[in-house]
Amino acid sequence: MSGSSSPYEGAGHSGWLGLNRLDPGELYDQYAAWCGRIVASGKHDIIDTAAAELTRGVEYLLGKRPIVSARPESDYCIALGTFGSGDLPDRTFGEDARWAIGPEGYAIKTNTADRCIAIGAWTPSGVLYGVFHLLRLLGTGSTVDGLELSENPANKLRMINQWDNIDGSIERGYAGRSIFYENNKITANLERVRDYARLLASTGINAIAINNVNVHKYETMFLTDHYLPDVAKLADIFRAFGIKLFLSINFASPIEIGGLSTADPLEPAVRQWWRGKADEVYAAIPDFGGFLVKADSENRPGPFTYGRDHADGSNMLAEALQPHGGIVIWRCFVYNCKQDWRDRLTDRARAAHDHFTPLDGRFMENVVLQVKNGPMDFQVREPVSPLFGAMEATNQVIEFQITQEYTGQQRHLCYLVPQWKEALDFDTFAKGEGSSVKRIVDGSLYGSRRSGFAAVSNIGDDANWTGHLLAQANLYGYGRLAWNPDLSAEGIAEEWVRLTFGGDDRLIRTICGMLMDSWSIYESYTAPLGIGWMVNPDHHYGPNVDGYEYSKWGTYHFADCKGIGVDRTVKTGTGYAGQYIGNNADMYESVDTCPDELLLFFHHVPYTHVLHSGQTVIQHIYDTHFEGAERAGRLKKAWSSLSGSMDEAMYRQVEERLTEQAQHAREWRDMINTYFFRKSGIGDELGRRIY
Ligand code: GCU
Repeated sequence: MSGSSSPYEGAGHSGWLGLNRLDPGELYDQYAAWCGRIVASGKHDIIDTAAAELTRGVEYLLGKRPIVSARPESDYCIALGTFGSGDLPDRTFGEDARWAIGPEGYAIKTNTADRCIAIGAWTPSGVLYGVFHLLRLLGTGSTVDGLELSENPANKLRMINQWDNIDGSIERGYAGRSIFYENNKITANLERVRDYARLLASTGINAIAINNVNVHKYETMFLTDHYLPDVAKLADIFRAFGIKLFLSINFASPIEIGGLSTADPLEPAVRQWWRGKADEVYAAIPDFGGFLVKADSENRPGPFTYGRDHADGSNMLAEALQPHGGIVIWRCFVYNCKQDWRDRLTDRARAAHDHFTPLDGRFMENVVLQVKNGPMDFQVREPVSPLFGAMEATNQVIEFQITQEYTGQQRHLCYLVPQWKEALDFDTFAKGEGSSVKRIVDGSLYGSRRSGFAAVSNIGDDANWTGHLLAQANLYGYGRLAWNPDLSAEGIAEEWVRLTFGGDDRLIRTICGMLMDSWSIYESYTAPLGIGWMVNPDHHYGPNVDGYEYSKWGTYHFADCKGIGVDRTVKTGTGYAGQYIGNNADMYESVDTCPDELLLFFHHVPYTHVLHSGQTVIQHIYDTHFEGAERAGRLKKAWSSLSGSMDEAMYRQVEERLTEQAQHAREWRDMINTYFFRKSGIGDELGRRIY
C-alpha cells in the first residue's frame, strides 16, 4: 500500500480503495498507457471529487500520479464529464448510448479513435460512480482495451443508517467509538468522515442518516442552532461525494425543544412547528434528505400517545418536508416490548403487518416505510417480513443490519450478503409468481416512486473501520447489492477480496471460500432451525438459551421436556403464517412443507420430529453444533495457510478474531447441546461428549 498521509492510515484503513501496487508487466503497461492524464469536464464539486478519486486510485496502483489537465492533442487520457459539458464524452457516446443512462447511471467506453477512455453521465454523481467502476476494473486486473458498458442503479435510495450517539458511543457498534461525535459535540477533525464518505460513494451509497434512531436529549437538539451549523458541515462533506444527509428525529421534539405541551400530529400548532423547523433545516442544508423516524417503538414517543396512527404521524412530517423536496423514512419496527411471557396469543412477529397494512393508501407520496428484512430483529435466520408485497399503495425500503448485533459482533466471521440475497430473491407472490422482494423495494412491482435499501452501518473509529477486517466485505457488499441486487454473493466477495488483498489466486480462493461458508457456520453453532434469541440479554453476545425466554420482549422458544418451537400457524397458533400470500402461507402453515431451516420459527414440534433431511430435531441440534464448532476451527486453519502472503498487520488482525471465534464456537456448542440434552433426556446417536 502506498499513498495518503492520513493520520488514521493503518492496516485496512484504505479498505477496498487502497489498491495494491501492480507489478511491472503487460497489464501495468496497458494501464499506464491510458492513465497518465485525466481530463475532467463539467464544473462541479462532485466532478472534482471524481477526478481526485481517479488520481488517487491510479497513483496507488501504478505508483505514478496522473496529470489532471486539458489534453494536448493526441495524448492518451481518461476523459470524464457530464454530457454537454466537454467534447470527449460527448463525442464518444451517441444518442442511443446516452438515452440508456438514467440520472445516476453512467457509460464507459474505450474510444481508440479519440485515444481516450471516456466516462460520461447526465449528472456529476453518475460520473463519480463511473470513475469508481473504472477503478474497480483496474483494481481487479481487468483489461481496459475495448471497454463498452453502461450501468444504472436498480434502487433509487441506497442508504446507510448510523446508530451513533453524540457522546461518541455507537448503539450496537463493534468497531470502536463514533467517527462523527465525541463529548457531546460533532468531531472537529472531519478527515475520517471524508474517508468514510469516499468508501460509501465508491459502492454507490447516496444517502446517510447520521444519528441513532433512538434520539436522546442532545441529538434532539440537532434541529436547533446549537448543532445545525455543524450538521451542515457534515452535509458539505457528504455532498461532495453525492450523498444526501438525513437526520433521525425525536417525535416529541415539539415538546422537548419547541416549548409546546403536545406533539399530537393533528394539532395545528404542532404541524406549524414542524413546518418552521423544516424551513430552518433547509436554510442551513438546502439539499437535506429528510427525517428518519423510530416512533412508538421500544419506548420511543410516537402518535399512539395521542390516539393517532402512523399515517397521521408520518404525514405531518411529510407535509413539512414536501415544499423542500424532502422525505420521511418511517420505520415499521413497531411491536409490544412489554409483553408478558405467559401470554401465548400476542406474537411479536405479527406486529408490523398488523399495525401497517390497514394504513395502505393513506401515506403521502414522500413517506417511505422502512421495513426490517425479517419480522423479528436481524436474527441469524428469519423468514422475510410479510409486509413486503402487502402494501401496494405504499413506498417501502428494506432495512438490513450490517453491524453484526446477532451475528457474532464482528468477532465472529459472518459474511451477510448471502443472507440478504435470500431475502431479496424471496417470491412474495403479491402479484403472482415473480413478485420478489427485490422487485418490491426497487419500486418496479407496484411502480412506486420511492424505493430502495437502508442498512445499519458496521463502522467505528477502529483503524480498519470494522474491527474484524473481513467484516469490511459486508459494508462493501451492501452498497454493491443496493446498486444491483442481481450481483451474486460470490462475485461481490471476489471483487472485495481482489481489491483489498490483490490478485493472488490461492489467497482469493481461500478468503472467498471462508466468506461464503461463514453464515452457515455461524448459524450451525448458534440458534437451530430458525429459533433465534439464544443470546445473553442486553449486549447480545454469547450463548444463553433462556436469555430471552421469560423476558418482556416477545422472544420465546418454548422449549420443554417434550419439544421446542413457536406455533405460528393459523390452525393452532398465533396465525402469523397467514400473513403471507398464497403459496407462502400454505408452505409455512404445514410442517410437511415448512423448510427445515425455519421449522421452529413456525411450529412447535417434539424433539423426535423427523426433518426433511431425515434427521430428528434433537439429532440435528447435536450434529450441527458439533460440526459448526469444527468448521469454525477450520476457518482459522484456512487463514493460517495465508500467513506470509499478505500485509502482516492485516493477517494478525484476522487471525486474532478467528482464534476467538474458534474458542467461542465451542462454548456455544457445549451450552446448546447440554441444554437440550438435559431438557430432552435424549442422547447423541454418535455418543459424543455432552456435559
Ligand atoms: C434492536 C437493537 C436496538 C435498536 C433496535 C432498532 O432491538 O437491539 O439497539 O435500537 O433494534 O432497530 O430500533
